[in-house]
Amino acid sequence: MQTDSSFTFVLFGGTGDLSMRKILPALYEAHRAGGMLADSGKIVAVARHIADRAAYIDWVDEHVKPHVSKNGVDETAWASFLDRIEFVKIDLGNPEDFTLLRDALSGRPGIRVFYLATGPSLFVPICRALASVGLNENSRIVLEKPLGYDLKSSNAINDAVGEIFAEEQIYRIDHYLGKEPVQNLLALRFGNVLFEPLWRREWVESIQITIAEELGVEARGDFYDNTGALRDMVQNHLLQLLSIVAMEPPHSMDSDSVRDEKLRVLRALKPIDPRDIGKVAVRGQYHAGVIRGSAVPAYATEPGVKQDSNTETFVAVKVEIENWRWAGVPFFLRTGKRLADRVAEIVVNFRAVPHSALGASALRGGANRLVIRLQPNETIRLYCLAKQPGEGMNLASVHLDLAFDRFFREGQMEAYQRLLLDVINGRLALFVRRDEQEAAWRWVEPILNEWAAANKPPKPYAAGTWGPAAASAMLAQHGTCWLEEEN
Ligand code: BG6
Repeated sequence: MQTDSSFTFVLFGGTGDLSMRKILPALYEAHRAGGMLADSGKIVAVARHIADRAAYIDWVDEHVKPHVSKNGVDETAWASFLDRIEFVKIDLGNPEDFTLLRDALSGRPGIRVFYLATGPSLFVPICRALASVGLNENSRIVLEKPLGYDLKSSNAINDAVGEIFAEEQIYRIDHYLGKEPVQNLLALRFGNVLFEPLWRREWVESIQITIAEELGVEARGDFYDNTGALRDMVQNHLLQLLSIVAMEPPHSMDSDSVRDEKLRVLRALKPIDPRDIGKVAVRGQYHAGVIRGSAVPAYATEPGVKQDSNTETFVAVKVEIENWRWAGVPFFLRTGKRLADRVAEIVVNFRAVPHSALGASALRGGANRLVIRLQPNETIRLYCLAKQPGEGMNLASVHLDLAFDRFFREGQMEAYQRLLLDVINGRLALFVRRDEQEAAWRWVEPILNEWAAANKPPKPYAAGTWGPAAASAMLAQHGTCWLEEEN
């Protein structure tokens, strides 16, 4: 779908890592696909260290081009993409410079999108400077995570930004919501009669949501050491995925209907009793190890990380939802850096049949299971039991695969591309509303506080493994195990 009217996409942090790896490549893909971006739409990059447009275009050519299109660059499309780009040199610390931006944008048709691909400490100063030159009208603002460090700091940012932009103008990005399989989970749940009747405590035994990474902290040691996995991944991506999995069917797919239902889930999360924290949450930190045959260093020796750091690079936590649909069903969330594999998936374990006429194997848990693989190799896999060929009635696990790249050979879209098009087109459903964010912080904060008060080192795990053994023990208490531990 083409943007219905023109737009100007203003990119703050135009030479940052995110712009280089994600935002500009996503805009290029939308441009190359044709028909998605209005022809007259422009990108205005803002940066301080670059002299002029020609120098910025050189930078984009050198740094962004290697990150676009796995299938190679279409040189004609690339050249016309560069034509869309303009540049304004601004020192963000100097609000007077924003008059340059106002002048550059004056008389342009259509909506203005301000994308803040900067550190959160710049969010409020940028918004204030935009308002001081009247640029907060007819505009949308995109905020990248992390939005704050805790509930208080996140509220402070939201309050200050909220004085300048109305909530309908604010797009808080969580790129996990833009991933195709997450959209497909909605389609699967609400477009079919098959799953919804079973999607409840009577038939679901437990749910796992894992985001495992092989990468370490890369060049972000400094940032990460002050953040940790709970703030970096659980407060946002994992709780957002959980709310999509657990929400009630919304009345429609309009932005507030979806976000109201997600909010209900986040508000129904059972608060964690500080006395139980050792039983329901595991924190770990990677030590040196081996990943795919290569030795990797310990977290504490990564650049920017304090040698005696107590920051967690792994979290596993048991979550419960206090409502009729989910009471008593454990949701196990897990994320970590330097784990054995890069995989993000949601596993719905259904209960065993209540009575088996087919022998004990039909009574085992996990016989029916839905695995939604977000990455890599996006698939949805439904496990069932079937009779093994031959004599007797021996059951074995088989599965049905929904491999999206086989059914839909074209049209796959990266998360950022979808989300940027949504901003330009004014679609808020896949962006996090302020009340959702607050509810997520409210649930996470007691864990953070308890960990800070205990001041204990995280449990060590070797890089290249699945994290501390305590994460497996936590599931064993519920008679279950992580998916990769089956068999
Ligand atoms: C980001 C985190 O939000 O998500 C990173 O800050 C993490 O630490 C990244 O690596 C993971 O995203 P993806 O899409 O690569 O799984």
